[in-house]
Amino acid sequence: MSTRLEQRRAQHQRYKEDVKEHGKPFFPGAMWHDTVMSLVVVCVIIALASIWYFTSGENPEDAGLLGPRYTEEADAGTTNFIPRPDWYFYFLFYLLRIFKWPDSVILGTVGIPTILLMLMVGLPFFDLRRERRLLRRPVAVVAAILVVLSMGVLTYKGATQEEALGGDATVVADWVDRNNLPASAREGATLFNETGCQQCHVYLGSGSANLGAPDLSDIGSLGGKTEDYFTRYVANPRTFGNNVMPVYGQANGGSLDDQQLGNLAKFLAASKGEG
Ligand code: HEC
Repeated sequence: MSTRLEQRRAQHQRYKEDVKEHGKPFFPGAMWHDTVMSLVVVCVIIALASIWYFTSGENPEDAGLLGPRYTEEADAGTTNFIPRPDWYFYFLFYLLRIFKWPDSVILGTVGIPTILLMLMVGLPFFDLRRERRLLRRPVAVVAAILVVLSMGVLTYKGATQEEALGGDATVVADWVDRNNLPASAREGATLFNETGCQQCHVYLGSGSANLGAPDLSDIGSLGGKTEDYFTRYVANPRTFGNNVMPVYGQANGGSLDDQQLGNLAKFLAASKGEG
């Protein structure tokens, strides 16, 4: 028999003896502990909920110690809202920016976290030593430090990442300047910036490239794309085989009227890239 196995058996034997000597039975010892602890947690939650409820009033302005009872109703029809995850998902959120759609995004957002989770679940099966002293476990310690560090950095980057929030006049002014946009295109430029197009499209470096949407900085210089084409395209991308982009034309259930579509089209047709 290998000495390793013998060692493990001896360790297990020692463990059994330890339990016999110093251990406490699960019932009632541990059960009692758990019951008391659970009660404490439930009481804290009830206490916090009571403080929140009884110190706040009926109106949104009557905020109590723990915030108001109601806030403004959410607007389900908004088009320029940029959804962001809760802070503890920022690291995953930032991975989405490192791994680009569509080539590596599955690897980055599903693959890597899954591999890490599986390593953790499997840990008791491949690390069988009883060694607990940190200095004797360099691999585990370095791995733990690296994971915490990288999650910290990714969380920080995700939290401070600039979003294409829309409605930013300086961004539009910058486009007019760099892309030499005529006056007739400015209305459309503002609309483009406010309508949420930059959630998927990049324009002169602003916005984020998502779901395979092209950079539109010089879309007007690519042959055969007229104002009329852009009007019809944005009104209903489905008829052009684009099933990803939202339908914007009011006639098709979207949010933009003909005048707005026309303005957007003027802007897109005038976008010929820098220089
Ligand atoms: C949810 C993501 C998304 C949003 C939001 C979005 N688009 Fe798109 N758009 C796409 C994708 C993806 C394509 C490319 C489809 C393809 O290549 O088949 C595209 C293509 C286009 C094209 C066609 C370019 C060409 O080569 O003919 C235009 C123009 C365009 N979008 C304009 C807009 C405008 C204007 C808005 C805002 C009013 C907008 N898009 C909002 C995803 C989006």
